[in-house]
Amino acid sequence: MAMGSMKVCVVGLGQIGFPVAQYVHEKGMQVWGYDISAATVEHANQGGQFKATNSWSEIPSADVYIVCVTTGQVDGCPDLKAVFNVCQKISEKAASSTLVTIESTVVPGTARKIFTEIFNSQVNLVHAPHRYWADEPEEHGVNQIRVIGAVNEESLASGMEFYEGNLGIPMHVCGSAEVAEMCKITENSHRYLQIAFAEDLKMLCGRIGMDFEDLRAACNTKWNVAIPEARDGIGRHCLPKDIRYVMSMAPSTLLESALRVDKEYRAWLSKRTP
Ligand SMILES: NC(=O)c1ccc[n+]([C@@H]2O[C@H](COP(=O)([O-])OP(=O)(O)OC[C@H]3O[C@@H](n4cnc5c(N)ncnc54)[C@H](O)[C@@H]3O)[C@@H](O)[C@H]2O)c1
Repeated sequence: MAMGSMKVCVVGLGQIGFPVAQYVHEKGMQVWGYDISAATVEHANQGGQFKATNSWSEIPSADVYIVCVTTGQVDGCPDLKAVFNVCQKISEKAASSTLVTIESTVVPGTARKIFTEIFNSQVNLVHAPHRYWADEPEEHGVNQIRVIGAVNEESLASGMEFYEGNLGIPMHVCGSAEVAEMCKITENSHRYLQIAFAEDLKMLCGRIGMDFEDLRAACNTKWNVAIPEARDGIGRHCLPKDIRYVMSMAPSTLLESALRVDKEYRAWLSKRTP
């Protein structure tokens, strides 16, 4: 299909969905954006070059639906109801050739459950999570190397044609949708562990009267060591959420300890004289 005649709908127009919709528009496709928040839709219509709406009936049947809605937690458990909710809506408009790509962060098993239970196995469905870093959207935005996993071969072929063929995004192919789902939350857990180690080390340095930054600079001269900074605790949205997504799959002593270290570090910081 010619790029100009392809219809793409981006669902969820927040920090991820907005730049995704812009990028797809810049590639020459017809783009519609949908979000439940009127304020977000207004922001998108002011700043974006695609049409945004909070009225689902205004969204035409699209060739591709990109799901970028909120995923969160309730009582420490993954809360994916927005993803299920919008996929239910998409199923009303989808045909067997439609590509549905879940870009929101989810737990392993989500894409396949949605494929069978909501789409009755009648669409192409892939998971292509983000590595977006809002502070560096040029280098670490929508089109950096990403991973993709699919529920079957046809879906993978459709997803690869869209991402690499149409959007020019380099994709690493995972053996299944589940590996792609696990990959995203594992990456962020890995980062969480690295920072928690730096926090632990900084507290240890405090106890033995050693300069943490001096030690860090010395260690980081080694080729395979990269101890990050220890700042104000492990914040923002994704790292604390994604490590808990991994822990919701199975117990992990190491990840449990990292959460405890971060909590202890925050208490330690608050007691320190500046
Ligand atoms: N922000 C990042 O840097 C980043 C990086 C990697 C992955 N992610 C993941 O991407 C996903 C989106 O994150 P974000 O930062 O863009 O979140 P966000 O909160 O900025 O945006 C999510 C949007 O989804 C909309 N939404 C929620 N429920 C909806 C529904 N039922 N129907 C339609 N719209 C709905 C919200 O109104 C909001 O505008 C999350 O799963 C997040 O974990 C985010």
